[in-house]
Amino acid sequence: MKLNSIKGVPVKGKKVLMRADLNVPLDEGNVTDISRIEGIGPTLHHLLKEGALVYLASHLGRPKGEINPDFSLQQIITAMEQCLDIKVKFSDDCLKCQELGEGEVMLLENTRFYPEEKENDPEFAKKMAKNFDLFVNDAFGAAHRAHVSTHGITEHLPSYAGFLMGKEIEALSPLLEAQNVTLVLGGSKIDTKIGIVKNFLSRAKSALIGGALANTFLMAEGFDIGKSKSEEDKFEVAQETLLMADAGNVEIVLPIDVVVADEIGPDVQTLNLPVRDVELDMMILDVGNKSTEIFTSKIHEADTIIMNGPMGVYEEKPFEKSTKSVLEAIAAHKGTTILGGGDTVDAINKFNIPAEKFTHVSTGGGAMLEFLEGKTLPGIEPLII
Ligand code: 3PG
Repeated sequence: MKLNSIKGVPVKGKKVLMRADLNVPLDEGNVTDISRIEGIGPTLHHLLKEGALVYLASHLGRPKGEINPDFSLQQIITAMEQCLDIKVKFSDDCLKCQELGEGEVMLLENTRFYPEEKENDPEFAKKMAKNFDLFVNDAFGAAHRAHVSTHGITEHLPSYAGFLMGKEIEALSPLLEAQNVTLVLGGSKIDTKIGIVKNFLSRAKSALIGGALANTFLMAEGFDIGKSKSEEDKFEVAQETLLMADAGNVEIVLPIDVVVADEIGPDVQTLNLPVRDVELDMMILDVGNKSTEIFTSKIHEADTIIMNGPMGVYEEKPFEKSTKSVLEAIAAHKGTTILGGGDTVDAINKFNIPAEKFTHVSTGGGAMLEFLEGKTLPGIEPLII
């Protein structure tokens, strides 16, 4: 896949609309992970160095088409200024942008404050485009969304890929052909993970499944999972996947033991027990000790590893062990190791594992999964040459 890169395109004095994925995690208004902000540095600094007037557009969260201060991008200005060493001006409406001097950057308010953004409304795309000379898309993390600021706008402006977009595609594309892949999948939503399992069925060595995702599979295998989080309506999807994996000779590795508790918290009582002993009010909150050993030994034997989603409620000490051990095993692995998803990145930071220990840590969660499903993503498709 070759993208129409911004590299070498004259931008001096041009008004550039740069789409970034600044949908960053916030805790009481403070940015808790800056990887997505850092990620846009190379494109942003390139544009500024070449004399462009840069206007940054992004969404933040899911404000349902309404103005809502909880989702205002104003909250991330300080983090952007510190992390990128720039001065950021702000426009409280993504359709309005004031004049900028050379070297200046303006962050536009959340594009999702307009319902038309998610509807990919052509009139809204025209309105947004009229303020600019060209469009640069560096929002790999939002590339699976066919919205105005990721897709519709490209109908109205010369459109280019930023360097982060290029880097992600370069890192992830070889996996579309890779053989003997070991998938490590956790988190919750089965629908977002099943596509990748299906796409890798003929080429995967194994799929290690943890997190709440594993609960749905365990339920499909007939186990009582007590009060554990699961997706009851996805029971059949899990069953079908297990059958397909069997037919395709892919080993799906589910936990044989789990860490359970009656509640989630930093000091709660836990039990490590075989899956068959889970019952009543118990909640499965982490992969158990034996299973973690099995997962890490599979990781040692793996060639290429793709991980998306934590193995348990890693945010709380009593349930962090499996996610930590699995990430440490992947970090020590000498083959190709690709990670993605907000919680996975958050877990790496929490356990102080440097991102450099992995071949590639994607800024995309859903976008990475859909790309690896083999889909042409709507945010990327207009940039392909
Ligand atoms: C993400 O965080 O995966 C992207 O920013 C897309 O966000 P969304 O799932 O709200 O569209």
